[in-house]
Amino acid sequence: MPPELAVMNAANLCPSPAPVLEAVYRNTKDMDYDPSFENREKMQEGKEATRRLLAQFLRVTAEEIVLTRNTSEANNLVSSGLDLKTGDEVLIFSDNHPSNGEAWKQKAKRFGYTVSVIEQPNPHPGAAFFIEAVAKAITPRTRVLAFSHQTSTVGDLLPATELCRLAQERGVLTMVDGASALGLFDVDLHAMRPDFYTGSAHKWPCGPKEVGLLYVNARVQHTIQPSVISAYPGAIGISRTLEALGQRDEPAIIGFGEALKFQEQIGRRAIEMRSRELAQALIAGFRKIDGVHLWTHPDPARSASVVTFRPGTLDVRKLAAALYRNDRIGCATRTGTDRPGIRFSPHLYNTMAEVDRAVSAIGKYMRQGV
Ligand SMILES: Cc1ncc(COP(=O)(O)O)c(C=O)c1O
Repeated sequence: MPPELAVMNAANLCPSPAPVLEAVYRNTKDMDYDPSFENREKMQEGKEATRRLLAQFLRVTAEEIVLTRNTSEANNLVSSGLDLKTGDEVLIFSDNHPSNGEAWKQKAKRFGYTVSVIEQPNPHPGAAFFIEAVAKAITPRTRVLAFSHQTSTVGDLLPATELCRLAQERGVLTMVDGASALGLFDVDLHAMRPDFYTGSAHKWPCGPKEVGLLYVNARVQHTIQPSVISAYPGAIGISRTLEALGQRDEPAIIGFGEALKFQEQIGRRAIEMRSRELAQALIAGFRKIDGVHLWTHPDPARSASVVTFRPGTLDVRKLAAALYRNDRIGCATRTGTDRPGIRFSPHLYNTMAEVDRAVSAIGKYMRQGV
């Protein structure tokens, strides 16, 4: 990346490091040089190697991993694949990506089940709120609890392990959207024990675009049917039924494996600590600027590496454009009425100097206008 450009938008899309780009290029070149079945056979082995790496990364078995195209597809494979009908209920929080919110609601109309929504207050009210709210909301009809591990809107951290345990005790399936957690935290699915967990390579893992993951716990594999039926499934476990998505971009899938190796080389704990350190510095800086209202809770138990705030009365679109044009800072905007503002999501490739630049640029525009 150009040294003068500071993009802090990991919750949306991350750059891939050189070993990932090289693996994608090397394998793509190989495939295009000789696209015969004979030459491409090794790509299938590469795909299975990524499945094994991912299983190790998440501390589960390769038989429980489906390589999808992204989190959206993985979330929808679950909401379309479960046998839900009239009388059944799905429980969600109000703050979810459309693939884990709207998707449930639209399919409820088609399949006849209902969706109950627990309002998620701002600021983050603490882990106990989420646990108590779910304990109260579960009814004998509740079949699924679906939530985001870390929300990508304002970075609320949800007590995923506790929620999965509670749901399991009450006979409710859990689907955890890990799009903003995989590649940031050392996600341990063996400890969390969700039924389904989803993620994207192109976000925090810094992998190639259009590769994702669906984890399906062995104990619930009998509950899910494939929504896409086509050729070229995976070789083992649940991938044999859920991963028959037709011709794939195997070089990208192989690149995902490289991204996981890259993270392991740096150290997953170190990555999380670094991202958190950068986010905490942003929070500390923004708190000192008059008129800035943080939507993200500063407590590291309630947020990690997504920092969203309302910049007073400044127009967020104009502010983001000015940051990019004048200060070479990339961020995301939140328009509309739900916690509008600017979102910074720093990751391991950002620096403290970039954080300082972002804080001083926001301070400048808050004083002078855009
Ligand atoms: C929490 C969450 N879930 C799902 C998605 C969808 O990810 P993708 O676009 O990779 O399918 C996103 C993307 O921003 C997200 O933040």
